[in-house]
Amino acid sequence: MSQLPRLIVCISGTGTNLQALIDACHTGTLAAQIVLVVSNRKQAYGLQRAAAAGIPTLYAPLKGWAEREAYDADLARQLLPYQPDLIVLAGWMHIFSGAFLSHFPQQVINLHPALPGAFPGMNAIERAFAAYMQGQITISGCMVHYVIPEVDAGPVIATAIVPFHAGDTLESYAARLHAAEHHLLVQATRQVLSERQAQELVP
Ligand code: GRF
Repeated sequence: MSQLPRLIVCISGTGTNLQALIDACHTGTLAAQIVLVVSNRKQAYGLQRAAAAGIPTLYAPLKGWAEREAYDADLARQLLPYQPDLIVLAGWMHIFSGAFLSHFPQQVINLHPALPGAFPGMNAIERAFAAYMQGQITISGCMVHYVIPEVDAGPVIATAIVPFHAGDTLESYAARLHAAEHHLLVQATRQVLSERQAQELVP
């Protein structure tokens, strides 16, 4: 167990993608261990998922910090002792600055519920579905990318196209997209770990 690559997962909400990672680690689909789950929201249900899986949690609210950079630097300081090989942002609603990212070069990846360059920021699924309904786009999907200070941008690791179906509602489309995300996040995490293993950067 101790030789497995170490993941920290950052969440802000329901944590279904966290659950996909937990399940993949348990079944061995993903040869890794989640050593910490971080949430910037106290009520995030994902914290309960982590606790149920016996994974340590850290609640790190932005409130109380006058500057985002100071929060970022402090959070990095708290995470460094966990010696993460990879930090996975899975529905993490906070844009990291260089004050965090500089501590973990090429080690922070993010899931975005749209394709590269499309619908950065909040409510991407809703905005993509509205654009489809207005005839502006014919496909959407999701992606995992390395994190840079610009929101939902950075070198792309993996993408999945999620087609619109005739008769789709926002709910039916969102459900299909979330299912695709759960697969993609596990696949992309595995891919990054294996690339870093090939470079002997992780166990
Ligand atoms: C996902 O759609 C993710 O792409 C977005 O936030 C959602 C998180 O869902 N950034 P969950 O908390 O993993 O269920």
